[in-house]
Amino acid sequence: MTRQSGIGRLFHVLRAQQFDRPLLDHLCDLTTLIRKVAKTREGLNFLRSLLSHKRVMLYFTQPSTRTFLSFENACHILGVQTSEIRNPATSSEYKGESSEDAIRTFSSYVDMIVMRTNVEGLADQTARHLDETERPVPIINAGSGRDQHPTQALLDIYTLHRSFEHRGGIDGKTIAMVGDLARGRTVRSLSYLMKNYRDVKLIFIAPPSLAMRDDLKQFLDKRQIDWSEHDNLEDVVPRADAIYMTRLQDEHDVAGESRQLDLTNFTFHYRFLERLGPEAIVMHPMPRRDEIDRRVDGDPRAVYWRQARNGMWTRTSILANIFAVDDAILERL
Ligand code: CP
Repeated sequence: MTRQSGIGRLFHVLRAQQFDRPLLDHLCDLTTLIRKVAKTREGLNFLRSLLSHKRVMLYFTQPSTRTFLSFENACHILGVQTSEIRNPATSSEYKGESSEDAIRTFSSYVDMIVMRTNVEGLADQTARHLDETERPVPIINAGSGRDQHPTQALLDIYTLHRSFEHRGGIDGKTIAMVGDLARGRTVRSLSYLMKNYRDVKLIFIAPPSLAMRDDLKQFLDKRQIDWSEHDNLEDVVPRADAIYMTRLQDEHDVAGESRQLDLTNFTFHYRFLERLGPEAIVMHPMPRRDEIDRRVDGDPRAVYWRQARNGMWTRTSILANIFAVDDAILERL
């Protein structure tokens, strides 16, 4: 089997809006196939042979555990060599070099740059700048300020897709997003991706000061995606197919103002499991604090650890698509 005609080939991955349904379905199928192939030593050797001629730079100037490690391991699964900068104090930016010059320098050495930054729009700006140079390489946005985290949204879609595989898929589902929605880039990117699914209902549950921002609500209105707001998670639990919890993003506070908020109504308490549908799921992009009772972890409907692991496989399939080895993987079917 090869990639069907009409399914796109990614170059830069900058924002969730760039994805269409055929490409999302393709990436989900490819991710499942990669997981299957990787179950045997022979399959792993095959995957590792595909991109041993490629090099990827992991440029993470904002803290990360999951995104960094899952990208690094996704690279290694496909045989890609990696280099990294995680602390700008170890880069010549410390000596006053602009990030534009620093990234152009990286592009001389590698075939792709995966970047996490606290600067909104920097990944887009970098991609535009590199496109004008003699060696444009793909830029992958691995989280940009309060703005977007498109590869997280792709792994979230994969987790939803797998969870609802035998229930008609993501179409028609009700997804509750809870917590710091104003500054949570994961919920923003996932909401943008909902343009690709039919009859999805989004319920935003946040304290008024952390409500989903208007630009995203306007996007949903334009796409006729049903959304509503609520101020207490408990009331919403019985009617949600997926509950997507998020933590307080107080690293964006000016003076610790959000730490004063009472988050009781935005916490998944243990007793909520009784009201949660038997086939509903609880997700979290992680890291978490206290917004999910630890005892929930033992319930099969809590999928956040699986979700984190799906990140590695989804990112492997993104790399496979960008570097055009997805057809070779599909041919193993
Ligand atoms: N979900 C997520 O982006 O986690 P990290 O910050 O650990 O990469």
